[in-house]
Amino acid sequence: MKGVLICGGSGTRLRPLTEITNKSLLPVYDRPLIEYPLGTLTRAGITDIVVISGNEHIDQMASYLGSGERFGCKFTYRVQDKPQGIAQALGMAEEFAEGHSVCAILGDNIYFDDLAPAIRSFKSGGHVFLKEVPDAERFGVAEVDAKGRVISIEEKPKKPKSKFAVTGCYVYDKNCFEIIRNLKPSARGEFEITDVSRWYLEKGELAASVLKDEWIDAGTFESLFKAAQMVRARQAKP
Ligand code: DAU
Repeated sequence: MKGVLICGGSGTRLRPLTEITNKSLLPVYDRPLIEYPLGTLTRAGITDIVVISGNEHIDQMASYLGSGERFGCKFTYRVQDKPQGIAQALGMAEEFAEGHSVCAILGDNIYFDDLAPAIRSFKSGGHVFLKEVPDAERFGVAEVDAKGRVISIEEKPKKPKSKFAVTGCYVYDKNCFEIIRNLKPSARGEFEITDVSRWYLEKGELAASVLKDEWIDAGTFESLFKAAQMVRARQAKP
């Protein structure tokens, strides 16, 4: 399986911190944010990784991450000219994936669960990771039946059908690239990753795990600050 680190976007919610610096290079206590999603990939044995970022930041991403040797992996870089959606960013990894399955992770998502068992045992279709949150309307939302199966999935619904956020790590087989090529932009003009997961759901090929530990989308001042506090608290544990 190959890895995709999605670090483009404009980071508007974190300005002025992101005026010059890519969101995923901002500090989370003692290391840049990017190292957390990167660690999620490498812990699952994924070492061949493409980093996707915008024109204005790709040089600083490469400057920090380098060849990957320092992290025990190998990086390839791709520029997303305009941030037109997470699915579009993932679509840029098609050539790199060479027909393999991919694990795509957002550069601002921090997982405290170990996703490795689910990622390593992935065979085909799609797999997403859900987390119960109090403010589901800020995220992709999955409705789940009594047996824990996903029955619907929506991007930032005004009235969420459940409290389960679809977090920013997506394991997909090679079909995701054809799905992305056929996507239409959403009402907000983006190629939505939620539409890719919905395609698998409608085929009966979408699996989901529910996270037990904390998860943070560090894309706001509050969540970035909370992330640093959490990391610090865990490091302090004997
Ligand atoms: O964090 C999980 C959530 O991430 C999911 O629940 C949502 O379904 C998903 O759409 C996404 O929502 P966000 O509002 O957090 O997405 P955001 O625009 O902040 O983008 C997330 C990351 O993806 C961010 O680090 C920048 C990167 N990105 C985003 C876009 C739109 C790109 O690399 N390219 C893009 O075109």
